[in-house]
Amino acid sequence: MPDGRLLADAASTLRAGGLVAFPTETVYGLGADATDPAAVRRIFAAKGRPADNPLIVHLADAADLDRVAARVSPLAAQLARRFWPGPLTLVLEAGDRLPPETTGGHPTVGVRVPDHPVARALLAAADRPVAAPSANRSGRPSPTTAAHVMADLGDVVDVIVDGGACVVGVESTVVDARGPHPVVLREGAVTREHLGVDGAASDAASPGTRYRHYAPRCQVLLAEQADAATTAAALSGGGARVAVVLPEAAPAPPGVEVVGRFGDPSALARDLYDALRRAEDAGADHVVVATVAEVGIGRAVMDRLRRAAAA
Ligand code: TXA
Ligand code: MG
Repeated sequence: MPDGRLLADAASTLRAGGLVAFPTETVYGLGADATDPAAVRRIFAAKGRPADNPLIVHLADAADLDRVAARVSPLAAQLARRFWPGPLTLVLEAGDRLPPETTGGHPTVGVRVPDHPVARALLAAADRPVAAPSANRSGRPSPTTAAHVMADLGDVVDVIVDGGACVVGVESTVVDARGPHPVVLREGAVTREHLGVDGAASDAASPGTRYRHYAPRCQVLLAEQADAATTAAALSGGGARVAVVLPEAAPAPPGVEVVGRFGDPSALARDLYDALRRAEDAGADHVVVATVAEVGIGRAVMDRLRRAAAA
């Protein structure tokens, strides 16, 4: 936990219209005062983010929800009680205190209360809603350590609050909670099983899912767990520089850099973006990633992996 003085300084920076990167349980966020249009515009400029892609607004406490939402549906109230603080973003009708910069000009707002002591202390000290996309340059893997933020945005952010590595590792689940049933717009750590809904996320519904995403500077290839090591070895034999992310038990192929190991799908979720960044730091042409079953958090992992592989 960073000391109180540092958090107080970071909160003052937010109040003064600055950019503060901070840890959450999912990934690091690039925060600015959600009610300050100029501050929010700095987020878009820093990330190179398309202006119509709305930001998630972060609150210290669910009791602050009516500061940012015009109407809290019964479903939203129920989901907030059950999953906040936690990796769930609720899409609701936006309140009139939020500028169009924050909502991307949409009539809705995505809101969440992060489950991280540093994030909550910072949000409480800032005493205002904080808009925060993932603290990566647009299109890159999300940052799960302060070093990842430094690598992408070190030259444009005013303060980076270091709270160690994020425990979840993939971004929050985004749910449209305006109607009677949750509609999943982005898969995350609050799973369809938790929410009691099935189906696949609709790409049309969440503006951000249209854009290129999660791509390191090397080609991402997916392989079944049993085939990942041999796929990597074959590529390496053909002369390419190859990195691989493998299950714990798989033997390391010769000539290939192992950039990640996972015991179960939540461990892969936690370490995936770090592994992708390690692969590019190792100068790999390709990174082969062993896949997981599409249940529970495995859906979020596979969603991110497919987007990374398509980029
Ligand atoms: O875990 C997270 O959600 C992280 C941490 C920092 O909280 N934040 C994050 O923000 O992932 P970002 O901007 O990288 O992704 C936000 C996603 C985008 O796909 C965006 O389109 C969607 O949420 N979103 C935000 N507001 C929305 C809205 N009003 N309606 C539909 N989708 C929305
Ligand atoms: Mg993002």
